[in-house]
Amino acid sequence: MTLFRATVLDTPQNPFTGGALRAESDAGLLVRDGAIADRGAFAALAARYPVDEVVDLRDGLLLPGFVDTHVHFPQVRAIGGLGMPLLQWLERCALPEEARLADRSYAEAVAADFVDGLVRAGTTSALVFGAHFAPAVDALFVEASRTGLRVTGGLVVSDRLLREELLTTPQRAYDEGLALARRWHSTGRTRYAVTPRFSLSCGDGLLDSCRSLLSDVEGVFVTSHVNENDLEIATVAGLFDGCGYVDTYDRAGLLGRRSVLAHNVHPTDVELRCLADRGATVAHCPTSNAALGSGLFPLKRHLAAGVRVALGSDVGAGTGFCLLKEGLQAYFVQQLSGGDGVPLAPAHLLYLATAAGAEALELADVGDLGVGRRFDAVWLRPSAGSTLAVALRHAADADDALAKAFALGTPGDVAGVWVDGGRLTPAPLAEAAALVDTAAR
Ligand code: GUN
Ligand code: ZN
Repeated sequence: MTLFRATVLDTPQNPFTGGALRAESDAGLLVRDGAIADRGAFAALAARYPVDEVVDLRDGLLLPGFVDTHVHFPQVRAIGGLGMPLLQWLERCALPEEARLADRSYAEAVAADFVDGLVRAGTTSALVFGAHFAPAVDALFVEASRTGLRVTGGLVVSDRLLREELLTTPQRAYDEGLALARRWHSTGRTRYAVTPRFSLSCGDGLLDSCRSLLSDVEGVFVTSHVNENDLEIATVAGLFDGCGYVDTYDRAGLLGRRSVLAHNVHPTDVELRCLADRGATVAHCPTSNAALGSGLFPLKRHLAAGVRVALGSDVGAGTGFCLLKEGLQAYFVQQLSGGDGVPLAPAHLLYLATAAGAEALELADVGDLGVGRRFDAVWLRPSAGSTLAVALRHAADADDALAKAFALGTPGDVAGVWVDGGRLTPAPLAEAAALVDTAAR
């Protein structure tokens, strides 16, 4: 038994429906077999239990591990392509890099960069958009298993309008997806997600094959993109005879409680009702929406319609793995939305970055740090003298401290990450190798 001693912040009750931030300073979390067996004042727990070890995390804040509900594995090296709208960015930045993952050894190196980036940012669970190549997706799962990250992901499929080498057929998509799902679905901490890239690149036959895979493997997820960009939306309407974008997935039978659609910046009210009825989740990806100029996310309309919303980094259109940055950007967007914006308090941001994602991914025993949950946690400890350290020292209360963490926190402040009570260790730094790589290009 291990007793963790920390200032613990989490959101066991949804702040959008009346919950508040739960904050406890000098708290004790007793962890047995990866789960939180008891929680309370540190002194009381220390007196009650004969623990093997006390882990002192009092410096800084302990939060639930972040849950990233939309992030692209093959795009870690494509981050930072600014100045383009979606379709141009895909063609010039993302897809040329994604094509390189046809080479398994390249994919293995990218998988190491990718998983390491998530861990360093304090992410403990992620719904990952995989690659268009089955061996590359296999490499992702191998790396996730080695590291201990909770990864739900799958083979990305498309059969039109992308560069040739990224295209597949409905039968091949089904066969390769089934083989990957058999190997990785519900194996340790990995699970499978059926992943049509977006309706723009997927014909009806391919969407039907996605549905077959969904029906044939119990408990798999579905993830895709929707309503991100005006030109994309108009193109989809043209390809599907004026059918609404959400409906392209719904009529294929792809929407349910285990479906996560990224973006939804420009939905109709009918589409929001459909998503709410199906219990699907929208992954809000605010830095990506800003970087690609996609638009301002209509959070108020999602909440009013009862659509579930969580946060995604959308690396590589998003500008990094850090969900603190996504939370801050989500806050900015609502501030800039005038009367249509939702004023977001720090508790809302933490909820969106943790428990909301856990609910979307049906990770019933993660998302907060209450008794009975798995110990999935991130320890933020700013380096001495940093502005975040100064800000935390002078925070008025727990909400204020959390606001400062969102305003100023970066992966550089992540001092520890645990899943199931086990500490995840980032890969050794490889700057020298990276510099050689850059020079060789
Ligand atoms: N729509 C289809 N593919 C992508 C992608 O890779 N990134 C984003 N942001 N949108 C997409
Ligand atoms: Zn995306």
